[in-house]
Amino acid sequence: MKLRSDHWYAGRDRNAYIHRAWMRRGVPGDAFDGRAQIAIANTASDLSPCNRHLSEVASSVRDGVYEAGGVPLELPVMSLGETQVRPTAMLWRNLAAMEAEEMFRANPVDGVVLLGGCDKTIPALLMAAASVDLPAVVVPGGPMLNGTFRGEPLGCGTGVWRLSEEMRAGTLTPEQFARSESAMIRSRGHCNTMGTASTMALVAEALGMVTPGLAGTPAPDSRLLEAAHGTGRLAVDMVGADRRPSTFLTESSFRNAIVALAAIGGSTNAVVHLLAIAGRLGVELTLDDFDRIGSRVPALVDLQPAGRFLMEDLHRAGGFHAVLREVRDLLDPEALTVTGRPLADHLDDARIWDREVIRGRDEPLVAEGGIAVLRGNLAPDGAVIKPAAASEHLLRHRGRAVVFDSIEDFRDRIDDPDLEVDADSVLVLRGCGPKGYPGMPEVSNMPLPKKLLAEGVRDMVRICDGRMSGTAYGTVVLHVAPEAAAGGPLALVRTGDTVALDVPARRIELEVPEEELARRTPDEATVAGFAAPARGWERLYVDRVRQADTGADLDFLTGSSGSEVHRESH
Ligand code: FES
Repeated sequence: MKLRSDHWYAGRDRNAYIHRAWMRRGVPGDAFDGRAQIAIANTASDLSPCNRHLSEVASSVRDGVYEAGGVPLELPVMSLGETQVRPTAMLWRNLAAMEAEEMFRANPVDGVVLLGGCDKTIPALLMAAASVDLPAVVVPGGPMLNGTFRGEPLGCGTGVWRLSEEMRAGTLTPEQFARSESAMIRSRGHCNTMGTASTMALVAEALGMVTPGLAGTPAPDSRLLEAAHGTGRLAVDMVGADRRPSTFLTESSFRNAIVALAAIGGSTNAVVHLLAIAGRLGVELTLDDFDRIGSRVPALVDLQPAGRFLMEDLHRAGGFHAVLREVRDLLDPEALTVTGRPLADHLDDARIWDREVIRGRDEPLVAEGGIAVLRGNLAPDGAVIKPAAASEHLLRHRGRAVVFDSIEDFRDRIDDPDLEVDADSVLVLRGCGPKGYPGMPEVSNMPLPKKLLAEGVRDMVRICDGRMSGTAYGTVVLHVAPEAAAGGPLALVRTGDTVALDVPARRIELEVPEEELARRTPDEATVAGFAAPARGWERLYVDRVRQADTGADLDFLTGSSGSEVHRESH
């Protein structure tokens, strides 16, 4: 079988000599003699603390690749530490995807193993793999072990929002709040709630891109290394079978991913990531598919932020396959995986061992667990809400808008005792979309005004063109498209306007007469809040990023470029 890497290594000419000679530093003599070259794309970094352990995982993958006759080649790729990177990791997702794609294509590799974990790392690697279309398989780095604080489970991320609100409300001291830090993060791995990292690891498996049964294995669990070893072997098999993403990532795979997203009660961030991945493959996936396919799927997993437990509990209770088995009839039986077999075929042995953590189909946590897509004059191209994380009494609500032009404006004014706001108000935050911020940060779950917290208010309707952390909760309408900075009507809302939310009817409306709206232009202060970067990646990003309803990818990165490189480097 002819390998892609043969174009570098095969033959007796000068260029093949150069490619081989520089690589001969202790590798077996026959390493370039028709053996599959497998890149291990490693997002380990001290500045991505959730991925710091991935070099140990890479070494297990490496063993598996060698054992199967391939040659493992570790390739450090751009990493994004969700909590560390400013102004938001999402600004860099497309750059990470572009960098990984170009490095996969530029180098003499036949297949790739993708090591990710923290929120943007798996989406970026999947986007890259879809575009370059080499045989590819993901090893998710796995969640942290459970945290506990004062006798109660403390979920990563979710606990921060809850405890910081308690401190603002005066029911927790700053010292107690600080003590919870190390109780929350007590091991290697990514966030242990059903946040974006856990969601994307599981959704990647539902897509068919992970060795079945691996996603959700806690990072410190030795079975992660065992499965990483097996994935190394599998990557070599995939090259032999020419099993590339375009051969098995189809509309059916995305349908399965949407069903899985609803059944696990996953993060709203998966919507933008799945749309972006589909865009790289030319798969027709739309925002409305999430509502059409997923909104009536029952949420079965009782995990924070919507529920009680954490990822270690999910693994103990039977894992992701036990969840998928409950909704097997909703999965497309034809959708294939990295193994070459359908996803549905891998579920026979799955069992639920703890029905508190994973509910049966007949006793779901939430009967309709998916993501609802809203439209109306406030979001002509759509907005999303996760009803399972919202308050039932706010799903149909009319209220007076209290508008903020940027997150800084919000922070300056939200706790002002003179701010005219009550529990029925609708908090509107703009300037947080892909272009406006730039990068679409996770700020949509705005903290509630201190004075209302003190009165016991714990949720309000919030509307924003940004995203929300997967670990957050509340009645939050997000991903409003088009965003304010792209000329969306969100820029025209004024404090005092009435906003009507009707989730069952899938509507979000600004109750201002059409003629009045047509007369309005965005205020100077609103426009001033939109960033206008002068140079570098931010400039390119703002000029070329698409809106949230299509995945917030750069317009010139949609579609696949394949793995061919037409010119030699010497
Ligand atoms: Fe890395 Fe949550 S901050 S996964």
